[in-house]
Amino acid sequence: MARKPKTPRWLEAARRRQEPVPEGSRADWLARALGRAGVMPRAEAEQAIREGRVEVDGRVEHEPFAPVHAGSVVRVDETPRSLEARTLALLFHKPAGVVVHGSDPEGIGTVFERLRPVLPPELRGHEWYAVGRLDRDTTGLLLFTNEERLVAHATSPETHVPKRYVADVEGNPSEAALQRLREGLVLDDGPTRPAGARLLAPGRVELVLTEGRHHQVKRMLAAVGHPVRTLHREAVGSLVLDVPEGACRLLTDAEVEQGLGFRAHPSPSGRGPG
Ligand code: URA
Repeated sequence: MARKPKTPRWLEAARRRQEPVPEGSRADWLARALGRAGVMPRAEAEQAIREGRVEVDGRVEHEPFAPVHAGSVVRVDETPRSLEARTLALLFHKPAGVVVHGSDPEGIGTVFERLRPVLPPELRGHEWYAVGRLDRDTTGLLLFTNEERLVAHATSPETHVPKRYVADVEGNPSEAALQRLREGLVLDDGPTRPAGARLLAPGRVELVLTEGRHHQVKRMLAAVGHPVRTLHREAVGSLVLDVPEGACRLLTDAEVEQGLGFRAHPSPSGRGPG
């Protein structure tokens, strides 16, 4: 069944206020625009807005979902702040034992808590979105970005961005088992795409997927009789993990464009509403 398109929250807020929705230039909502532009992360922005510390076009704004656009004049604590936002992406080496979730009701620890202290000070004002998920026990390359369109691009099965994993498994997969992985096999949520699969050492398999379904590597290897013991992601697109565990580095625009096939927008003007 086709899903009903979700009305963006900034648009709902604009309708509630019966304000005209800005056309042409990109519209966004205030707290998110502040997070994307690196003024302050979204939760902090929402608090500052509710505390009456943020003005838009000369008026104190109390609604975090208030629509703003490239031309809006925004002041925070009486200081003018630009909403211009360059697409940024970080390559992070995820350690085991932390979840890729914003909320953490069980107190396990999140990647966001690990990322924040290793960010250079000039990047701490941004809202960072994880590009896809890794399981709690999976280590390796995890990207973060301030741009939700990059998340959508890199995680969409349509864009075929390859993800390379190395798994230590139970037993030693035969050539026939590897061939099943290569050809694609049927999981409980449908057939998998053909994958790259090769044996790196006894009990160690490299798997390259162009889709990212829930627990996909573990489910594929279990389906051919070799449950995963440990899982590590080495590469996404042509970006290869090159920082020590727990560290991150900012990618260049060229790396984002060539490595992920994503054309970054240097500024927000001219984009459609998010
Ligand atoms: N596949 C999995 O099973 N787990 C991950 O963390 C990533 C891909």
